[in-house]
Amino acid sequence: MKKILYIAGEALPFASSGGLGDVIGSLPAALKAESDDDIRVILPLYSAVPEKFREKFEFIGSKDISLSWRKQYCGIFRYVYQGVTFYFLDNEFYFKRASLYGEFDDGERFAFFCRAALEILPDIDFFPDILHAHDWHAALSVIYLKRCYAEYDARYENTKAIFTIHNIQYQGIYDFAILGDVFGLMPSDREIVEYNGCINLLKGAIVCADRVTTVSPTYAKEILSPKFSHGLDNVLNMFSFKLSGILNGIDRDYYNPAKDKEIFANFSWKNPEGKAICKSGLQKMLGLPEREDVPMIAVISRLVSHKGFDLLMLAGDDILREDVQLVVLGMGDKSYEEYFTKLSDRYPDKCKTLITYNRDLSKRIYSAADIFLMPSKSEPCGLAQMICSRYGTVPIIHETGGLYDSIKDIGCENGGNGFTFAAYSAYEMLNSVRRACAFFKSDREGFKELSKKVMRVDFSWKQSALSYIELYNQLY
Ligand code: GLC
Repeated sequence: MKKILYIAGEALPFASSGGLGDVIGSLPAALKAESDDDIRVILPLYSAVPEKFREKFEFIGSKDISLSWRKQYCGIFRYVYQGVTFYFLDNEFYFKRASLYGEFDDGERFAFFCRAALEILPDIDFFPDILHAHDWHAALSVIYLKRCYAEYDARYENTKAIFTIHNIQYQGIYDFAILGDVFGLMPSDREIVEYNGCINLLKGAIVCADRVTTVSPTYAKEILSPKFSHGLDNVLNMFSFKLSGILNGIDRDYYNPAKDKEIFANFSWKNPEGKAICKSGLQKMLGLPEREDVPMIAVISRLVSHKGFDLLMLAGDDILREDVQLVVLGMGDKSYEEYFTKLSDRYPDKCKTLITYNRDLSKRIYSAADIFLMPSKSEPCGLAQMICSRYGTVPIIHETGGLYDSIKDIGCENGGNGFTFAAYSAYEMLNSVRRACAFFKSDREGFKELSKKVMRVDFSWKQSALSYIELYNQLY
């Protein structure tokens, strides 16, 4: 039995801003189901963590954490959720904030978090065989482990570190002025974290980790090239021997159209009739014409550039000139929010834009739509293409990263499970949208069969969990 410790900036159902939260919220439980390993998770105790969980937390104790010249309080709480032990690190100065990230002192906040995560191990009596850190917020835990603990404290020396990149765009880049003063690193650590004249925490974790993974095999290859690496291809090529990609899964219980209470009617591939009720229910709710024969296209996403919205900005009018309905749910960059809001103003009985992040509403849309559009410029894994499939909504994707690894075009040899386009171009995307809509209109039965087929694709965590277990076994 191995001891595995996850360190991450977010996890559902406690606090989440996107796909990382889904993964940290469900992978540990999936690993537990496939092994007898002892898997625990450390998270910051943000003010966003709901009271209904907090009131059940067990207080383990508190201690002072040294961060360079600072001494900061750290409360330790424990909570067992779905059989997995979660620890929450409490410091209101750092984590009682309006948002999880994006604060001016994120570097200091997550340095405290990473330092504290290692410092509390004696208090929780858990020295892991494997420390598995996720994204730049947890990168310093890997750097600290290898540079500040392993050589000086025997209790830490056998811990192997895995670092998972969920999105290489976010790297934790800081001025060298804070190397010692905030991060508490020594001048001799400089070359470990230095990249392009700055501190780059992601780079430091790549150098220090025993293994580096990312969230799909294709993305693991893509980030070796400058087109996808956001500047880190040199480093990754140097360390490509420790890099691999494991595709994420989704929580099939949380996303289950047969049982979901948030949607207008339940359905499954065996009894798919409820999907039509979901569609008319959403049309009614949004004030769209209640038509069964019009293809409803959904977009559910953070509205940020790597999700491919520049293509939609070019092709939005062309799409809406056809007989379609388009529902957009998401929030993010103001330029995209404005574009989609204006688009729905121009086509009020065809297009609805909802500028919000609402998981219940997203399920209503996943269950109602016929087609799901995900034209990401790059996509480490992507979960929405898997979630929409679970709800029988046929994805259209740009062939990149995890999208390419999970969705194949219906024109391919074995029939495929969606519509795909290879070149990142508005024309190609439009072409796929037209192909999907034409199929929907010309062959209603055929499209229903396709919808049933995509519902049956197995995007569960099981396979990924087995791959992670294999990786852990290679290290320990
Ligand atoms: C990030 C990536 C997304 C991935 C998720 C979980 O949000 O952008 O592609 O699915 O992390 O790994």
